[in-house]
Amino acid sequence: MKRLGILTGGGDAPGLNAVIRAAVKTAIYEYGCEVIGIRDGYDGLMEKGGIIPLGIEDVRGILPRGGTILGAANRGNPYARKVIRDGKEVTIDVSEEIIQAIKQLDLDALLVLGGDGTLRSAHELYLKGAPIIGVPKTIDNDIGGTEVTFGFDTAVTTATEAIDKLHTTAEAHHRVMVLEVMGRNAGFIALHAGVSGGSDVILIPEIPFKYNSVIAKVRQRVERGYLFSIVVVSEGAKPLSGEQVFSREGDEVYVPRLGGIGQIVGEYIEKSGFETRVTVLGHVQRGGTPTPFDRWLATRYGAAAVRLAAQGKFDRMVSLQAGTIVDVSLEETIAVPKRVDINDDPVITARGMGISFGDE
Ligand code: F6P
Repeated sequence: MKRLGILTGGGDAPGLNAVIRAAVKTAIYEYGCEVIGIRDGYDGLMEKGGIIPLGIEDVRGILPRGGTILGAANRGNPYARKVIRDGKEVTIDVSEEIIQAIKQLDLDALLVLGGDGTLRSAHELYLKGAPIIGVPKTIDNDIGGTEVTFGFDTAVTTATEAIDKLHTTAEAHHRVMVLEVMGRNAGFIALHAGVSGGSDVILIPEIPFKYNSVIAKVRQRVERGYLFSIVVVSEGAKPLSGEQVFSREGDEVYVPRLGGIGQIVGEYIEKSGFETRVTVLGHVQRGGTPTPFDRWLATRYGAAAVRLAAQGKFDRMVSLQAGTIVDVSLEETIAVPKRVDINDDPVITARGMGISFGDE
C-alpha cells in the first residue's frame, strides 16, 4: 500500500479528527504510506484545492477537537449533485467523475468516514471500481453491522448534561421540561440520555406515542407529590395517530429535516394545565470535544481501517462487536439500518424504572 485517501462524508460527528489522526499515524508509522485528505466529502474530488497531503504534523493536536479538519458536506451525494448548467440549477449523477478522480489520484485505498447515506454511496462507488473501506460515523448510532458508531457517546453525554441542568430548574419551578434531541429515525440518543438523566417520559420513533399517555404520566407524578417532570423527545418521534414533524422538506440532494415535535408535545402538556418549557438541543449534540470513549473508539476504528486497507479488504466497514473491532460487509451494513429494539433490555429496564414511552 503506497497511497491512502481519507474522506469524511455527511454531517460531522465528534471523533472524526481522532479517526483521521489514527489512520494517518498508522499508515505512516506502520506502513510507510503516503496519506492524502479529501476536503468536504466527495466534493473535494471534483473541486480545485480539494486534495491535501496529510502528514504527522497535520494531525498533531487534533485528537480532542470536534468537527473535522477535512470539512464536511451533507449535500455530497455522488448520484445527486446540484450544479449550474446553462444558468439553471440541475441535479446530476457525478459518480463517474468521482471514480475517475479516485483513479487519477492513484489511491490504493480510500477510507470513507460516514453515516448511512455516505456509506451507501461508498458501496456503490466500490461496485464501480473504487477501493473503499467504511468507518461508521454518526451521533445517531443508526448504522447496521456495528454496536456503536463514533460520535454517539459524545452526543449522549451532551444530552444527559442538558437533562441534568433542566432537572434542577424544573424542580425549582415545578415545571415540565421537554427536551428535543436528535437521532433521525432512531431513538438511541433519547433512550440513552433519557435513562442516564433520569427522565420521566421518553418518546422515540420506534414507539408511537399517545398524547394522553404522556399527560397521564405527568399528572400521576403531580398526584404523587412530584411537581415537575422531564420529557425527552427524539426528533423522529411520532404520535400513534399522526406523522413525524419536519422543519424542512427534502429533495434529491437533501434528506428532509426533522424537528418540531418537542414543541408540539410541550404545547399539548401546557394546554393540559401543566406549566411547560421546551428546549431543542440541536447541533450542540454534534459539536465539541469527543468523550474519552469516542476518542478510544475512533482511534481503534481509524487504525483498523488502515490495516484492512493494507490487506486489500475493500467494500468492508470496521465495526465494534462485543468489545472487539471486526469488519463487516458494507452491503450488509447498509441493507438494514439499526433501530432501538423495543423488546430488548434497555427499553425493558426503562419501563421497569417507571419511565413512560407514551404508549400505555
Ligand atoms: O445524522 C446526524 C444528524 O445530526 C441528525 O441527528 C439530524 O437529524 C441531522 O443530522 C441534522 O442535519 P443537519 O446538520 O443537516 O441539520
